[in-house]
Amino acid sequence: MQIRPETASDTRTIRELTEVAFAPMPYGDGTEGACIDRLRIDGDLTLSLVADEAGEIIGHVAFSPAQISKATGDWYGLGPISVRADRQKQGIGTMLAQAGLKQLKTRGAAGCVLIGRPAVYGPMGFVSDGNLTHGKLDTALVQYIGLNGTPPKGEVTFAPALQETSP
Ligand SMILES: CC(C)(COP(=O)(O)OP(=O)(O)OC[C@H]1O[C@@H](n2cnc3c(N)ncnc32)[C@H](O)[C@@H]1OP(=O)(O)O)[C@@H](O)C(=O)NCCC(=O)NCCS
Repeated sequence: MQIRPETASDTRTIRELTEVAFAPMPYGDGTEGACIDRLRIDGDLTLSLVADEAGEIIGHVAFSPAQISKATGDWYGLGPISVRADRQKQGIGTMLAQAGLKQLKTRGAAGCVLIGRPAVYGPMGFVSDGNLTHGKLDTALVQYIGLNGTPPKGEVTFAPALQETSP
């Protein structure tokens, strides 16, 4: 299996993989696949990586620019991230996230933020220390990983394609 950047011929598969992965989730709202297309159209798809196993895409992660009201430097949002149901909990999500974070760090990014469950993203190195907010969302779900610089504080704003569908 290799983690590689998306190509033009991957876009439909990425959308379908994402829709199927989020469909059973209580927080899934059916927009996650289209959201990646919107990020791409808006020029906000900073990184789009796929897990490719012998030509078959079994996972995907998107990164896009994010703002944190009281933080400095360039921050990015992670998500949507999806792994095909029969391949979940095998470390593929972690490999996708880590590959993207490594590239962001090389670019000099201050760090990466996301909305998600600590059980999934804690083991990947993300933390929620209560210093980040996203509307009225439980701050335990607002997680970050620092790559260069100091821990952030403030309100997180994601790219418009994500912001419109965030809880
Ligand atoms: C979230 C997702 C991308 C994780 O990918 P994955 O390949 O299963 O993740 P990994 O195998 O790298 O696991 C990372 C950690 O998350 C945990 N984890 C994964 N799925 C979990 C679940 N459903 N519930 C609780 N913990 C979970 C793993 O146990 C692991 O922790 P550990 O190292 O302490 O064991 C994948 O489960 C998925 O596609 N889910 C459906 C779509 C979704 O919910 N996307 C994210 C929205 S926040």
